[in-house]
Amino acid sequence: MRMVDLIEKKRDNHELTTEEIKFIIDNFTNGSIPDYQMSAFLMATFFNGMTEKERAELTMAMVNSGETIDLHGIEGIKVDKHSTGGVGDTTTLVLGPLVAALDVPVAKMSGRGLGHTGGTIDKLEAVKGFTVEITKEKFMELVNKNKIAVIGQTGNLTPADKKMYALRDVTATVNSIPLIASSIMSKKIAAGADAIVLDVKTGAGAFMKTAKDAEELAQAMVNIGNNVGRNTMAVISDMSQPLGFAIGNALEVKEAIDTLNGNGPEDLTELCLTLGSFMVYLAKKASSLEEAREKLEEVIANGKALEAFKTFLASQGGDASVVDHPSHLPTASYMIELPAKEDGYVQEMIADEIGTAAMMLGAGRATKESVIDLAVGIVLQKKIGDAVKKGESLLTIHSNTENVDNVKELLYNSIIVGSNKVEAPPLIHTHITK
Ligand code: URA
Ligand code: CA
Repeated sequence: MRMVDLIEKKRDNHELTTEEIKFIIDNFTNGSIPDYQMSAFLMATFFNGMTEKERAELTMAMVNSGETIDLHGIEGIKVDKHSTGGVGDTTTLVLGPLVAALDVPVAKMSGRGLGHTGGTIDKLEAVKGFTVEITKEKFMELVNKNKIAVIGQTGNLTPADKKMYALRDVTATVNSIPLIASSIMSKKIAAGADAIVLDVKTGAGAFMKTAKDAEELAQAMVNIGNNVGRNTMAVISDMSQPLGFAIGNALEVKEAIDTLNGNGPEDLTELCLTLGSFMVYLAKKASSLEEAREKLEEVIANGKALEAFKTFLASQGGDASVVDHPSHLPTASYMIELPAKEDGYVQEMIADEIGTAAMMLGAGRATKESVIDLAVGIVLQKKIGDAVKKGESLLTIHSNTENVDNVKELLYNSIIVGSNKVEAPPLIHTHITK
């Protein structure tokens, strides 16, 4: 087989065979296929797309390009959730304990974040003593015992994806549905998921700016999952404004506790119940989505979800007293309000920019080397559609430096207040179950 022939085949819009796709991925990963040939192939794929069969083959070739995590030692159906990313997205922190309380095994491998706020691990490390540096054996044991554990990223998973993504980034081929869908799905499958729930974000703060594009990506991923034997469902949710009120590590842990307590922000609660229902249903712990949702509401009401969070934190060395006393979480030295400059309604929130403001305070990493300040961030008081009076606070900045003029300026530019009354955007656009 020669790469040049396969590039030509894709250029002329013919379907590649299983062997041909495997040849490309294996030989690109081991360095035998040079970047210039892979670039040409990626661009041909960008223009001509891939068939359903090719997408499934590409995904599995990427899964098999490196190590995979074997979770067979854990009882039950391992359902993983993936979000395409957003600002102040506290869902992972809530969903873990929430579904674990219904005996759905949550075996989460997680990374540190780059950008707006930390990743799930950074957020959890806002709890004193909590560690993800546990052995694989301990990890499996904890999931079997408590139904939930988180371990730091280990192993060389999907090296093909890492190399391809780096090349796509500099060849204008990131924005291709088959390439994005196979990239995301390969990582979930390599991490051991039996079933997958996807939260595909749409809106200003998301990768997919329109609901139509988000739906297309979601359907592509659901099809891949179902074609490779992993039950997959997707929710298309709004990211035209941050989710919940809190953006920042300790602040989001507190928000997660409130939500597990039944006192969380409405949008965050609703999204967690929706995604959670899919997880419980796919794990076969309920026979319908409605039943799954009822069961989730029950474990919030009877305290079992909160109890699962405590057990989880304590089992990994964390100070579980934060659950009953959120004041034990790190707090910032200054709380600075952002008063509205005029009467009106919040028309628009530029989620990305609000995330950047949180990063400027120290809540996220600008580079891999940056050190995160776990205490700082932003708590919104107003969201799209809310009425505001001049002088009333739009949000509270939690900072460890007194002068935050540049952050304030960015925030004023990211929250548009005007006289027209606007409706809050719908949180969930649609969902895809098959
Ligand atoms: N996120 C991924 O993991 N892969 C892509 O290709 C795009 C976004
Ligand atoms: Ca939040």
